[in-house]
Amino acid sequence: MRLLQGDCRELLPGIIKETERPVIVTDPPFNVGYHYDTYGDRMDETEYYGMLAGLLRLAPAVVIHYPEALHRLSIAAGQAPERVVSWVYPSNTRRQHRDIAFYGVAPDFTRVRQPYRNPGDMRVRELARRTGGAALYDWWEVDQVKNVSREKTAHPCQMPVEVMERVVGVLPDGVTVIDPFMGSGTTGVACVRRGVDFIGIELDPAYHRIAERRIGEESCLIGS
Ligand SMILES: C[S@@+](CC[C@H](N)C(=O)[O-])C[C@H]1O[C@@H](n2cnc3c(N)ncnc32)[C@H](O)[C@@H]1O
Repeated sequence: MRLLQGDCRELLPGIIKETERPVIVTDPPFNVGYHYDTYGDRMDETEYYGMLAGLLRLAPAVVIHYPEALHRLSIAAGQAPERVVSWVYPSNTRRQHRDIAFYGVAPDFTRVRQPYRNPGDMRVRELARRTGGAALYDWWEVDQVKNVSREKTAHPCQMPVEVMERVVGVLPDGVTVIDPFMGSGTTGVACVRRGVDFIGIELDPAYHRIAERRIGEESCLIGS
């Protein structure tokens, strides 16, 4: 685990060069004027999509964003994703889902299991006993992290660990996951749980400290 504090635009190219089998996994800032402590979240659109497309030129990447933003990213990068999953989070807001696009790396959904849809059916019960559950579907219903959630930190837009665990879990063996917009370190926590090597970069010193604490605590839990 390496957790760096700084600007990923400067740090990432060097890190990618010295890492074997890197896969970028990230929930980047959405460029919507979100209220982060340090980062303004309002870049010129061309510069913003140029920055994200630059990630895809460096390494295979899994990017979480609004569907239309991922379409724009694919156009900017000249690259179509291998697969796209919808993360659905029923809420009272206008937005009810984000998409997760796998660029240059194909997810294997059989690596993570979930309950079958009709567990009462006798044949399904037998199937569940033999397989441990259904291979992940490409539509994940997981609640957002709310202010009252147990895992909530002072970071304003945390991803649920469950979503990141699924993303990390369907990647091939032996990769190193790199999150250049680490925030509170959720991707790192998921990597600790899945036993995957992780490198994170975060601009904001306070968020970086939160990530260090969370990932450190998770490592202790797993190690104990
Ligand atoms: C959407 S948040 C990530 C949240 C994270 N997935 C979590 O669960 O906590 C995006 C993060 O990117 C950081 N950020 C913005 N620009 C950055 C840059 N150039 N280099 C590194 N981090 C940056 C912001 O400070 C913010 O914490």
